Amino acid sequence: MAYTTEQLRALDQQHLWHPFTPMKLWLEDEPLVITAAQGMHLIDSEGNRYLDGVSSLWCNVHGHRVPEIDQAIRRQLDKVAHTTMLGLASEPAILLAERLMKIVPRSLKKVFYSDAGATAAEIAFKMAVQYWHNVGRPEKNEFVGFAEAYHGDTVGAMSVGRVPAFHKPYFPLLFKVHFAPTPYVYRSDTPDDPGAVKEKCRAALEAILRDHGRRIAAIAIEPIVQGAAGMIVQPDGFLREVRRLASEHDVLLIADEVATGFGRTGRMFACDHEAVDPDLTPRASPAATCRWRRRSRRNESSTHSSASPGRGKRSTTATRTPEIRSRVRRLSPHWNSSRSMT
Ligand SMILES: Cc1ncc(COP(=O)(O)O)c(C=O)c1O
Repeated sequence: MAYTTEQLRALDQQHLWHPFTPMKLWLEDEPLVITAAQGMHLIDSEGNRYLDGVSSLWCNVHGHRVPEIDQAIRRQLDKVAHTTMLGLASEPAILLAERLMKIVPRSLKKVFYSDAGATAAEIAFKMAVQYWHNVGRPEKNEFVGFAEAYHGDTVGAMSVGRVPAFHKPYFPLLFKVHFAPTPYVYRSDTPDDPGAVKEKCRAALEAILRDHGRRIAAIAIEPIVQGAAGMIVQPDGFLREVRRLASEHDVLLIADEVATGFGRTGRMFACDHEAVDPDLTPRASPAATCRWRRRSRRNESSTHSSASPGRGKRSTTATRTPEIRSRVRRLSPHWNSSRSMT
């Protein structure tokens, strides 16, 4: 049975909650109902086309209905849609990890599949704590985050990237985090002097690490640009300074590339702009992943688990990404590989 636009709207308003959406306003409105898409465009139930200007909230790196991706999904569905990674290996998950290794900074050696950006960030936080536990320093279990940062909506991610407008009701659930100021040049006291803003924020971060570094497991940062905060671009060299301070104070660096990874800032990864190697990096492609730079063999077990990661269908989709990327690179000179940077 085909539903009319009005019927679909009525059912939506009756049964659905939408993310970060005040439902009172939603119910007063007449939402577009998307029924199809092609390339850069969304198509609504009335046949109108719209430019998907936010790339379906920055999830859609290659556009809609890319033939290679759709065919890969169909082929995989003819084999198997999902098997567990718990106790079993999976062909597409293995092949994707191998391909990812060719494009990430060389220091990153391991992939852990997640199912969303927030859970990838959450896993990175857990891995950081587990690492220090495994090397005999369990007291290092606190985090440094940046003001205005966003790492997602699970409890750990909300703790480290705290956005009052989204997260205030949950503050009682969140764990303690040391917040460093973000170098937001435009809104700073010296908008014409990015160097001064960078230095002020660097010094503030250094003071936190000096005072609390003994107990800090990791610094979490959205490298180069804080997306959800309003596309706040960091001054040149800030990320490099954060990397340097992390190493100097024996603290891991978590570069959350969920919003920036896979070409979204013009380089393959935002860290490539400053040739920075993070220790852990949550990323979101068709399969959300968390990558680990090996520092200790003792950390080579994971106590995070979930039933859904490494789905064949998603991994197969993601394995098409490098091929599509090379096709895009031919069209766009800005799409450089990370290897050329490091
Ligand atoms: C930097 C960053 N980390 C994590 C997330 C959370 O990703 P997800 O919505 O897939 O959980 C986002 C979402 O926009 C993000 O921008």
